[in-house]
Amino acid sequence: MLGQNEAVPFPTRDTAVSEALFERARAVTPGGVNSPVRAFNAVGGVPRFIRSATGAWLTDVDGNQYVDMICSWGPMLLGHAHPEVMAAVQAAATRGTSYGTPTQPEVELAEEMVARTPVEEVRFVTSGTEATMSAIRLARGFTGRDVVVKFAGCYHGHVDALLASAGSGLATFAVPGTPGVPASSTELTLVLPYNDREAVTTTFEEHGDRIACLITEASPGNMGLVPPEPGFNAFLAETCRRHGALFVSDEVMTGFRASREGQWGLDGKREGWVPDLMTFGKVMGGGFPAAAFGGRADVMRHLAPEGPVYQAGTLAGNPVATTAGLTTLRLATDEVYAHLDATATTIKQAVAAALTEAGVPHAVQSTGTMFSVFFTDTPVTDFATASTTDSAAYAAFFHAMLDAGVHLPPSAYETWFVSAAHDDRAVQTVLDALPGAARAAAAAQEGEAG
Ligand SMILES: Cc1ncc(COP(=O)(O)O)c(C=O)c1O
Repeated sequence: MLGQNEAVPFPTRDTAVSEALFERARAVTPGGVNSPVRAFNAVGGVPRFIRSATGAWLTDVDGNQYVDMICSWGPMLLGHAHPEVMAAVQAAATRGTSYGTPTQPEVELAEEMVARTPVEEVRFVTSGTEATMSAIRLARGFTGRDVVVKFAGCYHGHVDALLASAGSGLATFAVPGTPGVPASSTELTLVLPYNDREAVTTTFEEHGDRIACLITEASPGNMGLVPPEPGFNAFLAETCRRHGALFVSDEVMTGFRASREGQWGLDGKREGWVPDLMTFGKVMGGGFPAAAFGGRADVMRHLAPEGPVYQAGTLAGNPVATTAGLTTLRLATDEVYAHLDATATTIKQAVAAALTEAGVPHAVQSTGTMFSVFFTDTPVTDFATASTTDSAAYAAFFHAMLDAGVHLPPSAYETWFVSAAHDDRAVQTVLDALPGAARAAAAAQEGEAG
Protein backbone atom coordinates (compact mmCIF):
# COMPACT_ATOMS: atom_id res chain seq x y z
CA MET A 1 0.00 0.00 0.00
CA LEU A 2 1.29 3.47 -0.88
CA GLY A 3 1.96 5.97 1.87
CA GLN A 4 0.16 9.31 1.68
CA ASN A 5 3.12 11.16 0.27
CA GLU A 6 4.47 8.60 -2.14
CA ALA A 7 4.09 9.36 -5.83
CA VAL A 8 1.76 6.98 -7.62
CA PRO A 9 3.89 4.85 -9.95
CA PHE A 10 2.85 4.82 -13.61
CA PRO A 11 1.64 3.32 -15.80
CA THR A 12 -0.49 1.11 -13.57
CA ARG A 13 -3.00 0.44 -16.34
CA ASP A 14 -2.26 -1.88 -19.20
CA THR A 15 -0.89 0.17 -22.09
CA ALA A 16 0.71 -2.58 -24.19
CA VAL A 17 -1.27 -1.85 -27.36
CA SER A 18 -0.66 1.92 -27.14
CA GLU A 19 3.04 1.20 -26.62
CA ALA A 20 3.18 -1.06 -29.67
CA LEU A 21 1.36 1.50 -31.83
CA PHE A 22 3.66 4.25 -30.58
CA GLU A 23 6.68 2.20 -31.68
CA ARG A 24 5.15 1.75 -35.14
CA ALA A 25 4.21 5.43 -35.27
CA ARG A 26 7.73 6.54 -34.39
CA ALA A 27 9.08 4.54 -37.32
CA VAL A 28 6.94 6.44 -39.82
CA THR A 29 6.13 9.82 -38.21
CA PRO A 30 8.49 12.28 -36.44
CA GLY A 31 8.11 11.67 -32.70
CA GLY A 32 5.23 9.29 -33.42
CA VAL A 33 2.63 12.09 -33.42
CA ASN A 34 1.08 14.48 -35.91
CA SER A 35 1.13 17.48 -33.60
CA PRO A 36 3.86 17.94 -30.97
CA VAL A 37 1.58 18.50 -27.97
CA ARG A 38 0.13 15.00 -28.37
CA ALA A 39 3.48 13.50 -27.43
CA PHE A 40 4.05 12.97 -23.74
CA ASN A 41 7.48 14.65 -23.89
CA ALA A 42 6.53 17.15 -21.19
CA VAL A 43 5.19 14.53 -18.76
CA GLY A 44 7.02 11.33 -19.74
CA GLY A 45 5.51 8.03 -20.82
CA VAL A 46 3.60 6.85 -23.86
CA PRO A 47 0.64 8.71 -25.39
CA ARG A 48 -2.63 6.82 -25.25
CA PHE A 49 -3.88 5.88 -28.71
CA ILE A 50 -7.63 6.42 -28.70
CA ARG A 51 -9.91 3.91 -30.35
CA SER A 52 -13.22 5.68 -29.81
CA ALA A 53 -14.92 8.40 -27.85
CA THR A 54 -18.48 9.03 -26.69
CA GLY A 55 -19.75 11.95 -24.65
CA ALA A 56 -17.14 12.83 -22.03
CA TRP A 57 -15.23 9.54 -22.31
CA LEU A 58 -12.24 8.35 -24.33
CA THR A 59 -11.51 4.64 -24.80
CA ASP A 60 -7.96 3.73 -25.69
CA VAL A 61 -6.75 0.79 -27.77
CA ASP A 62 -6.05 -1.20 -24.58
CA GLY A 63 -9.66 -0.73 -23.46
CA ASN A 64 -8.91 1.86 -20.72
CA GLN A 65 -11.49 4.59 -20.28
CA TYR A 66 -10.74 8.18 -19.37
CA VAL A 67 -12.77 11.30 -18.68
CA ASP A 68 -11.61 13.60 -21.46
CA MET A 69 -10.33 16.97 -20.25
CA ILE A 70 -8.76 17.83 -23.61
CA CYS A 71 -11.87 17.69 -25.82
CA SER A 72 -9.66 17.75 -28.96
CA TRP A 73 -8.04 20.93 -27.54
CA GLY A 74 -11.36 22.73 -27.55
CA PRO A 75 -13.64 21.71 -30.42
CA MET A 76 -15.77 19.05 -28.71
CA LEU A 77 -18.08 21.49 -26.92
CA LEU A 78 -21.00 19.04 -26.94
CA GLY A 79 -18.89 15.96 -26.18
CA HIS A 80 -17.81 13.22 -28.56
CA ALA A 81 -20.05 11.66 -31.21
CA HIS A 82 -23.08 13.76 -30.30
CA PRO A 83 -26.01 11.91 -31.93
CA GLU A 84 -27.46 14.95 -33.72
CA VAL A 85 -24.08 16.13 -34.99
CA MET A 86 -23.28 12.60 -36.18
CA ALA A 87 -26.62 12.28 -37.99
CA ALA A 88 -26.13 15.64 -39.74
CA VAL A 89 -22.57 14.73 -40.71
CA GLN A 90 -23.58 11.32 -42.04
CA ALA A 91 -26.39 12.84 -44.09
CA ALA A 92 -24.02 15.49 -45.48
CA ALA A 93 -21.36 12.90 -46.34
CA THR A 94 -23.81 10.77 -48.29
CA ARG A 95 -24.52 13.81 -50.48
CA GLY A 96 -20.82 13.97 -51.42
CA THR A 97 -17.90 15.29 -49.43
CA SER A 98 -16.53 18.20 -51.46
CA TYR A 99 -17.56 19.95 -54.66
CA GLY A 100 -15.34 22.99 -55.05
CA THR A 101 -18.47 25.10 -55.60
CA PRO A 102 -20.53 27.13 -53.09
CA THR A 103 -22.98 25.30 -50.77
CA GLN A 104 -25.83 26.17 -48.40
CA PRO A 105 -24.18 25.06 -45.11
CA GLU A 106 -21.38 27.61 -45.69
CA VAL A 107 -23.92 30.42 -45.91
CA GLU A 108 -25.81 29.21 -42.84
CA LEU A 109 -22.67 28.78 -40.73
CA ALA A 110 -21.46 32.25 -41.76
CA GLU A 111 -24.88 33.69 -40.80
CA GLU A 112 -24.75 31.93 -37.42
CA MET A 113 -21.25 33.32 -36.72
CA VAL A 114 -22.19 36.83 -37.82
CA ALA A 115 -25.24 36.65 -35.52
CA ARG A 116 -23.15 35.63 -32.48
CA THR A 117 -20.12 37.86 -32.87
CA PRO A 118 -19.36 41.44 -33.98
CA VAL A 119 -17.96 40.31 -37.37
CA GLU A 120 -19.89 41.51 -40.41
CA GLU A 121 -18.43 39.03 -42.90
CA VAL A 122 -16.41 35.80 -42.64
CA ARG A 123 -14.19 33.78 -44.96
CA PHE A 124 -13.74 30.06 -44.25
CA VAL A 125 -10.38 28.28 -44.20
CA THR A 126 -9.34 24.86 -42.89
CA SER A 127 -7.15 25.55 -39.84
CA GLY A 128 -6.60 28.21 -37.21
CA THR A 129 -3.11 28.71 -38.59
CA GLU A 130 -4.54 29.58 -41.99
CA ALA A 131 -7.03 31.94 -40.34
CA THR A 132 -4.40 34.02 -38.52
CA MET A 133 -2.02 33.94 -41.50
CA SER A 134 -4.79 35.22 -43.78
CA ALA A 135 -5.99 37.85 -41.28
CA ILE A 136 -2.47 39.28 -41.12
CA ARG A 137 -2.16 39.36 -44.89
CA LEU A 138 -5.49 41.15 -45.12
CA ALA A 139 -4.48 43.65 -42.41
CA ARG A 140 -1.26 44.38 -44.29
CA GLY A 141 -3.09 44.66 -47.62
CA PHE A 142 -5.76 46.93 -46.14
CA THR A 143 -3.44 49.30 -44.27
CA GLY A 144 -0.53 49.25 -46.72
CA ARG A 145 1.76 48.71 -43.69
CA ASP A 146 4.00 45.75 -42.81
CA VAL A 147 4.68 45.53 -39.08
CA VAL A 148 2.78 43.07 -36.84
CA VAL A 149 2.67 43.21 -33.04
CA LYS A 150 2.07 40.08 -30.94
CA PHE A 151 2.50 38.99 -27.33
CA ALA A 152 4.98 36.48 -25.90
CA GLY A 153 3.17 33.27 -24.91
CA CYS A 154 0.27 33.83 -27.34
CA TYR A 155 0.11 31.07 -29.96
CA HIS A 156 -1.60 31.76 -33.25
CA GLY A 157 -0.70 28.57 -35.11
CA HIS A 158 2.56 27.89 -36.91
CA VAL A 159 2.62 31.02 -39.09
CA ASP A 160 6.26 31.95 -39.83
CA ALA A 161 5.89 35.61 -38.85
CA LEU A 162 4.25 34.64 -35.55
CA LEU A 163 6.70 31.92 -34.50
CA ALA A 164 8.84 34.72 -33.17
CA SER A 165 10.62 35.49 -29.94
CA ALA A 166 11.17 38.95 -28.54
CA GLY A 167 14.25 40.82 -29.74
CA SER A 168 16.89 42.06 -27.32
CA GLY A 169 14.88 44.98 -25.97
CA LEU A 170 11.39 46.38 -25.92
CA ALA A 171 10.29 47.56 -29.37
CA THR A 172 13.16 45.82 -31.13
CA PHE A 173 12.16 43.44 -33.89
CA ALA A 174 11.77 39.74 -33.23
CA VAL A 175 13.97 36.75 -33.96
CA PRO A 176 12.76 33.36 -35.29
CA GLY A 177 11.21 31.17 -32.60
CA THR A 178 12.19 27.95 -34.38
CA PRO A 179 14.78 26.77 -36.90
CA GLY A 180 13.30 26.91 -40.38
CA VAL A 181 11.82 30.38 -39.99
CA PRO A 182 14.05 32.84 -41.84
CA ALA A 183 15.03 36.03 -39.99
CA SER A 184 13.36 37.93 -42.82
CA SER A 185 9.99 36.44 -41.77
CA THR A 186 10.17 37.78 -38.22
CA GLU A 187 11.97 41.06 -38.80
CA LEU A 188 8.62 42.82 -39.18
CA THR A 189 7.22 41.28 -35.98
CA LEU A 190 7.34 42.93 -32.55
CA VAL A 191 6.83 40.68 -29.51
CA LEU A 192 5.68 42.30 -26.25
CA PRO A 193 4.95 41.03 -22.72
CA TYR A 194 1.24 40.25 -22.24
CA ASN A 195 -0.90 42.54 -20.09
CA ASP A 196 1.81 45.23 -20.29
CA ARG A 197 0.15 48.52 -21.30
CA GLU A 198 3.37 50.49 -21.05
CA ALA A 199 5.11 48.20 -23.54
CA VAL A 200 2.21 48.59 -25.96
CA THR A 201 2.15 52.37 -25.61
CA THR A 202 5.92 52.70 -26.09
CA THR A 203 5.89 50.41 -29.11
CA PHE A 204 3.06 52.26 -30.82
CA GLU A 205 4.71 55.62 -30.08
CA GLU A 206 7.88 54.41 -31.75
CA HIS A 207 6.50 52.36 -34.67
CA GLY A 208 2.81 53.29 -34.86
CA ASP A 209 2.82 54.53 -38.45
CA ARG A 210 4.32 51.20 -39.66
CA ILE A 211 2.04 48.85 -37.69
CA ALA A 212 -0.53 47.00 -39.81
CA CYS A 213 -2.09 45.14 -36.90
CA LEU A 214 -1.78 43.91 -33.38
CA ILE A 215 -2.84 40.28 -32.95
CA THR A 216 -3.63 38.79 -29.57
CA GLU A 217 -5.39 35.74 -28.20
CA ALA A 218 -8.63 37.20 -26.86
CA SER A 219 -7.78 35.48 -23.58
CA PRO A 220 -4.50 33.60 -23.91
CA GLY A 221 -4.91 29.86 -23.38
CA ASN A 222 -1.69 28.58 -24.90
CA MET A 223 0.60 29.38 -21.95
CA GLY A 224 -2.00 27.99 -19.59
CA LEU A 225 -4.90 30.34 -19.12
CA VAL A 226 -3.78 33.96 -18.59
CA PRO A 227 -6.82 36.22 -18.84
CA PRO A 228 -6.52 39.83 -19.95
CA GLU A 229 -6.49 42.24 -17.02
CA PRO A 230 -9.78 44.18 -16.88
CA GLY A 231 -9.92 46.66 -19.77
CA PHE A 232 -6.75 45.34 -21.46
CA ASN A 233 -8.46 44.29 -24.71
CA ALA A 234 -10.36 47.60 -24.82
CA PHE A 235 -7.05 49.42 -24.37
CA LEU A 236 -5.53 47.42 -27.25
CA ALA A 237 -8.51 48.16 -29.52
CA GLU A 238 -8.27 51.88 -28.72
CA THR A 239 -4.48 52.03 -29.16
CA CYS A 240 -4.79 50.38 -32.58
CA ARG A 241 -7.58 52.74 -33.59
CA ARG A 242 -5.58 55.82 -32.62
CA HIS A 243 -2.63 54.68 -34.73
CA GLY A 244 -4.58 53.49 -37.77
CA ALA A 245 -3.64 49.83 -37.14
CA LEU A 246 -6.12 46.94 -37.09
CA PHE A 247 -6.92 45.07 -33.88
CA VAL A 248 -7.01 41.32 -34.62
CA SER A 249 -8.59 39.25 -31.86
CA ASP A 250 -7.69 35.57 -32.16
CA GLU A 251 -10.67 33.58 -30.86
CA VAL A 252 -9.65 30.24 -32.38
CA MET A 253 -9.65 28.76 -28.87
CA THR A 254 -12.08 31.01 -27.00
CA GLY A 255 -14.62 31.49 -29.80
CA PHE A 256 -18.03 29.92 -28.96
CA ARG A 257 -16.21 28.25 -26.04
CA ALA A 258 -15.39 30.82 -23.29
CA SER A 259 -19.02 31.90 -23.64
CA ARG A 260 -21.77 31.77 -26.29
CA GLU A 261 -20.09 34.79 -27.90
CA GLY A 262 -16.56 33.79 -27.00
CA GLN A 263 -14.23 36.05 -25.03
CA TRP A 264 -15.70 39.07 -26.82
CA GLY A 265 -19.02 38.25 -25.12
CA LEU A 266 -17.21 38.54 -21.78
CA ASP A 267 -15.48 41.86 -22.36
CA GLY A 268 -16.02 43.62 -25.72
CA LYS A 269 -19.79 43.31 -25.73
CA ARG A 270 -20.04 44.73 -22.22
CA GLU A 271 -17.46 47.46 -22.77
CA GLY A 272 -18.72 48.51 -26.20
CA TRP A 273 -15.74 47.89 -28.49
CA VAL A 274 -15.26 45.53 -31.44
CA PRO A 275 -12.14 44.04 -33.02
CA ASP A 276 -11.43 44.99 -36.65
CA LEU A 277 -10.74 41.34 -37.48
CA MET A 278 -11.30 38.08 -35.59
CA THR A 279 -10.11 34.54 -36.16
CA PHE A 280 -12.03 31.37 -35.34
CA GLY A 281 -11.53 27.59 -35.43
CA LYS A 282 -12.06 24.62 -33.11
CA VAL A 283 -15.75 24.73 -31.91
CA MET A 284 -17.03 26.23 -35.19
CA GLY A 285 -15.78 23.09 -37.01
CA GLY A 286 -17.53 20.67 -34.63
CA GLY A 287 -14.46 18.36 -34.69
CA PHE A 288 -13.78 18.77 -38.43
CA PRO A 289 -11.09 20.89 -40.07
CA ALA A 290 -12.84 24.24 -40.39
CA ALA A 291 -11.73 27.70 -39.35
CA ALA A 292 -12.44 31.27 -40.37
CA PHE A 293 -11.44 34.89 -40.19
CA GLY A 294 -13.87 37.76 -40.33
CA GLY A 295 -14.50 41.34 -39.33
CA ARG A 296 -15.45 44.78 -40.60
CA ALA A 297 -17.12 44.59 -44.00
CA ASP A 298 -14.96 47.40 -45.42
CA VAL A 299 -11.82 45.43 -44.46
CA MET A 300 -13.15 42.02 -45.58
CA ARG A 301 -14.09 43.48 -48.97
CA HIS A 302 -10.40 43.89 -49.70
CA LEU A 303 -10.26 40.10 -50.14
CA ALA A 304 -10.32 38.42 -53.55
CA PRO A 305 -12.51 38.17 -55.54
CA GLU A 306 -14.04 41.43 -54.31
CA GLY A 307 -10.74 43.16 -53.60
CA PRO A 308 -7.05 42.83 -54.38
CA VAL A 309 -5.78 40.74 -51.42
CA TYR A 310 -5.40 37.13 -52.57
CA GLN A 311 -6.53 34.21 -50.40
CA ALA A 312 -8.04 30.83 -51.37
CA GLY A 313 -8.57 27.17 -50.33
CA THR A 314 -9.55 23.93 -52.11
CA LEU A 315 -11.43 22.54 -49.09
CA ALA A 316 -12.43 25.89 -47.55
CA GLY A 317 -16.07 25.81 -46.39
CA ASN A 318 -16.20 22.07 -46.92
CA PRO A 319 -19.85 20.94 -46.77
CA VAL A 320 -19.32 18.15 -44.22
CA ALA A 321 -17.17 20.33 -41.95
CA THR A 322 -19.51 23.32 -42.12
CA THR A 323 -22.49 21.03 -41.42
CA ALA A 324 -20.72 19.69 -38.31
CA GLY A 325 -19.93 23.25 -37.16
CA LEU A 326 -23.40 24.58 -37.90
CA THR A 327 -25.11 21.72 -36.08
CA THR A 328 -22.77 22.15 -33.11
CA LEU A 329 -23.41 25.89 -32.85
CA ARG A 330 -27.18 25.46 -33.18
CA LEU A 331 -27.11 22.95 -30.32
CA ALA A 332 -24.86 25.18 -28.19
CA THR A 333 -27.67 26.91 -26.34
CA ASP A 334 -27.53 29.09 -23.24
CA GLU A 335 -28.29 25.94 -21.20
CA VAL A 336 -25.19 24.27 -22.64
CA TYR A 337 -23.01 27.22 -21.61
CA ALA A 338 -24.60 27.29 -18.15
CA HIS A 339 -23.76 23.58 -17.77
CA LEU A 340 -20.17 24.15 -18.93
CA ASP A 341 -19.81 27.02 -16.46
CA ALA A 342 -21.14 24.99 -13.55
CA THR A 343 -18.99 21.98 -14.43
CA ALA A 344 -15.85 24.10 -14.79
CA THR A 345 -16.57 25.80 -11.45
CA THR A 346 -17.03 22.48 -9.63
CA ILE A 347 -13.76 21.10 -11.01
CA LYS A 348 -11.79 24.31 -10.45
CA GLN A 349 -12.88 24.48 -6.81
CA ALA A 350 -12.04 20.82 -6.25
CA VAL A 351 -8.58 21.19 -7.84
CA ALA A 352 -7.82 24.20 -5.65
CA ALA A 353 -9.07 22.39 -2.53
CA ALA A 354 -7.05 19.23 -3.25
CA LEU A 355 -3.84 21.17 -3.96
CA THR A 356 -4.32 23.32 -0.85
CA GLU A 357 -4.88 20.20 1.26
CA ALA A 358 -1.70 18.62 -0.14
CA GLY A 359 0.30 21.84 0.39
CA VAL A 360 1.03 22.41 -3.31
CA PRO A 361 1.29 26.12 -4.30
CA HIS A 362 -1.07 26.79 -7.18
CA ALA A 363 -3.09 29.33 -9.14
CA VAL A 364 -6.32 28.27 -10.81
CA GLN A 365 -7.12 30.80 -13.55
CA SER A 366 -10.16 31.03 -15.76
CA THR A 367 -12.19 32.96 -18.26
CA GLY A 368 -15.80 31.95 -18.84
CA THR A 369 -15.97 28.16 -19.14
CA MET A 370 -12.19 27.72 -19.69
CA PHE A 371 -9.58 27.27 -16.97
CA SER A 372 -6.13 25.99 -16.19
CA VAL A 373 -3.95 25.29 -13.18
CA PHE A 374 -0.47 26.65 -12.53
CA PHE A 375 1.76 24.99 -9.96
CA THR A 376 3.31 28.20 -8.66
CA ASP A 377 2.88 30.79 -5.92
CA THR A 378 3.68 33.65 -8.31
CA PRO A 379 0.66 35.58 -9.66
CA VAL A 380 0.45 34.64 -13.37
CA THR A 381 -0.12 37.57 -15.71
CA ASP A 382 2.22 36.92 -18.65
CA PHE A 383 4.59 34.39 -20.21
CA ALA A 384 7.42 35.06 -17.75
CA THR A 385 5.21 34.40 -14.72
CA ALA A 386 3.47 31.45 -16.42
CA SER A 387 6.93 29.93 -16.85
CA THR A 388 7.33 29.69 -13.07
CA THR A 389 4.93 26.71 -13.02
CA ASP A 390 6.49 23.52 -11.65
CA SER A 391 6.39 21.18 -14.66
CA ALA A 392 7.76 18.20 -12.73
CA ALA A 393 4.98 18.49 -10.16
CA TYR A 394 2.48 18.72 -13.01
CA ALA A 395 3.90 15.56 -14.60
CA ALA A 396 3.34 13.62 -11.37
CA PHE A 397 -0.17 15.11 -11.04
CA PHE A 398 -0.97 14.31 -14.69
CA HIS A 399 0.04 10.64 -14.40
CA ALA A 400 -1.83 10.13 -11.16
CA MET A 401 -4.95 11.55 -12.82
CA LEU A 402 -4.41 9.36 -15.88
CA ASP A 403 -4.08 6.27 -13.70
CA ALA A 404 -7.33 7.23 -12.01
CA GLY A 405 -9.10 7.54 -15.37
CA VAL A 406 -8.83 11.26 -16.18
CA HIS A 407 -6.98 12.42 -19.31
CA LEU A 408 -5.61 15.94 -18.73
CA PRO A 409 -3.55 17.83 -21.33
CA PRO A 410 -0.03 16.32 -21.28
CA SER A 411 1.63 19.68 -20.58
CA ALA A 412 1.59 22.15 -17.71
CA TYR A 413 0.97 25.04 -20.13
CA GLU A 414 -2.44 24.06 -21.49
CA THR A 415 -6.05 24.94 -20.86
CA TRP A 416 -8.41 22.26 -19.54
CA PHE A 417 -11.65 21.75 -21.44
CA VAL A 418 -15.03 20.38 -20.41
CA SER A 419 -18.07 19.57 -22.55
CA ALA A 420 -21.84 19.50 -22.29
CA ALA A 421 -21.49 15.72 -21.90
CA HIS A 422 -19.45 16.00 -18.67
CA ASP A 423 -22.20 14.67 -16.44
CA ASP A 424 -22.22 13.81 -12.73
CA ARG A 425 -20.41 10.48 -13.27
CA ALA A 426 -17.63 12.09 -15.30
CA VAL A 427 -17.22 14.97 -12.86
CA GLN A 428 -17.23 12.58 -9.87
CA THR A 429 -14.44 10.56 -11.53
CA VAL A 430 -12.39 13.77 -11.75
CA LEU A 431 -13.18 14.76 -8.14
CA ASP A 432 -12.27 11.29 -6.85
CA ALA A 433 -8.93 11.39 -8.66
CA LEU A 434 -7.84 14.82 -7.40
CA PRO A 435 -6.68 14.15 -3.82
CA GLY A 436 -4.30 11.36 -4.89
CA ALA A 437 -2.97 13.42 -7.77
CA ALA A 438 -2.41 16.41 -5.48
CA ARG A 439 -0.44 14.17 -3.11
CA ALA A 440 1.60 12.88 -6.06
CA ALA A 441 2.42 16.51 -7.00
CA ALA A 442 3.39 17.24 -3.39
CA ALA A 443 5.65 14.16 -3.32
CA ALA A 444 7.31 15.30 -6.58
CA GLN A 445 7.98 18.70 -5.01
CA GLU A 446 9.39 17.10 -1.86
CA GLY A 447 11.66 15.03 -4.13
CA GLU A 448 12.83 18.21 -5.94
CA ALA A 449 13.47 19.96 -2.62
CA GLY A 450 15.32 16.95 -1.23
C1 LIG B 1 -5.48 30.82 -30.22
C2 LIG B 1 -5.09 29.91 -31.34
N1 LIG B 1 -4.89 30.41 -32.57
C3 LIG B 1 -4.54 29.63 -33.60
C4 LIG B 1 -4.37 28.27 -33.43
C5 LIG B 1 -3.97 27.41 -34.59
O1 LIG B 1 -5.03 26.59 -34.96
P1 LIG B 1 -4.77 25.23 -35.79
O2 LIG B 1 -4.10 24.29 -34.84
O3 LIG B 1 -6.13 24.81 -36.22
O4 LIG B 1 -3.88 25.60 -36.93
C6 LIG B 1 -4.57 27.72 -32.17
C7 LIG B 1 -4.38 26.27 -31.95
O5 LIG B 1 -4.38 25.76 -30.86
C8 LIG B 1 -4.94 28.55 -31.10
O6 LIG B 1 -5.14 28.07 -29.86
